Amino acid sequence: MNDPQPNAAVTYGAYLKIDELLSLQQPRSDGPEHDEMLFIIIHQVYELWFKELLHELDRVMALLTADDTARAQHTLKRILTILKVLVAQLDILETMTPLEFLSFRARLAAASGFQSDQFRQMEFLLGAKTAQAVERFPEGTRARRALERRYAEPTLWDAFLQYLSREGYRVDRAHLVRDVTTAIEPDADIQSILITIYRRDPKNAELCERLVDLDEGFQEWRYRHVKMVERTIGTKPGTGGSSGAPYLRTTLGRNLFPDLWEIRGHL
Ligand code: HEM
Repeated sequence: MNDPQPNAAVTYGAYLKIDELLSLQQPRSDGPEHDEMLFIIIHQVYELWFKELLHELDRVMALLTADDTARAQHTLKRILTILKVLVAQLDILETMTPLEFLSFRARLAAASGFQSDQFRQMEFLLGAKTAQAVERFPEGTRARRALERRYAEPTLWDAFLQYLSREGYRVDRAHLVRDVTTAIEPDADIQSILITIYRRDPKNAELCERLVDLDEGFQEWRYRHVKMVERTIGTKPGTGGSSGAPYLRTTLGRNLFPDLWEIRGHL
């Protein structure tokens, strides 16, 4: 019988490094203030999910490059499910009143989600890149190196266009060798390919729909985050140095994959 004995040294706590994990929540307020624990844990949980999302997004890129449509779709489904959890988690933070947040806000000093390099890495992978976002992180740090790498790498949209080209669609060479550090601009030729896909190619039309889900899911998080910020700090500036909610509102309504939205009016 092939029934390996469980390794006696591996326990739940050892495998998951529970002692280390539980030592990482260190409130800075005196007392400490009750709600600071929630604030720390929710951000740490977000960062863990960001790590998992990057892991899965890298996988989607690799599966598209390997022309494995079915598994790319499957992985996108997982990503979308995680995104829904990320949006839902904001409900928990909204149980914290403005006064409860104020009880420890000063202790955050300049710390802000604005400085989340993993969030920027996701934006970069999805095509929203800026050199300034890289330069905000000190040279030589893990965050800076990760962002420099992702800045230079193709985006998910680039991997998708390469995939479509191998699927037999006539994607102009200019798109396949484009400067991947620049923004993804809407393009009439790509739109006509996408219209053909939606009309005649159900397999790839499904893939397109999952990309629209991803784009919408990301925007949904942004919208819910702004509303949460508005109800918690109103018109006050952010700890990260921006104008706060007015800045965050400028990030709303920007489609990651503009061609997929543009074609909807022409189908
Ligand atoms: C009480 C809770 C929160 C408040 C009041 C808040 C407030 C803000 C504000 C004002 C900004 C704008 C930048 C700045 O000047 O700081 C910002 C950006 C950001 N926050 Fe939050 N935030 C909260 C919770 C969270 C959570 C739980 C996350 C999850 C990681 C998060 C992630 C981000 C990200 C990624 C940005 C950058 C967005 C962008 O530049 O597009 N925030 N937040």
